[in-house]
Amino acid sequence: MTRYRYYTATTLDGFLADDTDSLAWLFKQHIDDDGPGNATQFIAGVGAQVMGATTYAWILEHERSWLPQMPTFVFTHRELEPANEHVSFLAGDPTRHRTAIESAAGDRDVWIMGGGDLAAEFATAGMLDEVLVSIAPVTLGAGRPLFGGAFDLALQECDRNGDFVVARYDVVGPLKNP
Ligand SMILES: NC(=O)c1ccc[n+]([C@@H]2O[C@H](COP(=O)([O-])OP(=O)(O)OC[C@H]3O[C@@H](n4cnc5c(N)ncnc54)[C@H](OP(=O)(O)O)[C@@H]3O)[C@@H](O)[C@H]2O)c1
Repeated sequence: MTRYRYYTATTLDGFLADDTDSLAWLFKQHIDDDGPGNATQFIAGVGAQVMGATTYAWILEHERSWLPQMPTFVFTHRELEPANEHVSFLAGDPTRHRTAIESAAGDRDVWIMGGGDLAAEFATAGMLDEVLVSIAPVTLGAGRPLFGGAFDLALQECDRNGDFVVARYDVVGPLKNP
């Protein structure tokens, strides 16, 4: 069964990027590429990627070596050009696209890359199984949020990699107050 996994780095105060979409705070951190929570191991289990329009624009502008090499669904309301044959565009409720996303992923996982509102849209749709975060020892005070909704999670694993705390959570469901 397809697992939907939100895998990302975040600041301690829960931001994916600053207000200008800069990741300078992230790239200055030390990480062991073979250590716990490493990207190579994670990506080996991924069959399709999902991201929002800002994240896609950031890759196009700043890091074209990260252009998708597997089926990748960019959520946008805009008419955009696909950067290569792996990219296609979707809009609206993720449940409408479940069949397309899961058939693209095959027997592998779906990587929800972000941003945080899109991850929450998938969680609301019941299409988010896990959150895997690498927490950098930095706060920004403002920026692009890690998550755009109120959910209960259950901590499954926690480790250290270089400067980062790496943690894996199961998504339990919408936040229930006691
Ligand atoms: N720290 C990390 O490891 C990490 C990971 C991922 C991303 N990032 C960064 O974090 C930032 C995230 O940006 P962001 O918060 O703006 O989030 P985003 O998800 O990348 O982009 C948000 C945009 O996606 C589109 N969108 C989202 N849901 C949609 C839906 N259901 N239907 C149609 N379009 C939809 C909308 O764009 P339109 O309506 O304008 O088309 C929306 O404004 C970026 O700077 C990115 O580079 C960092």
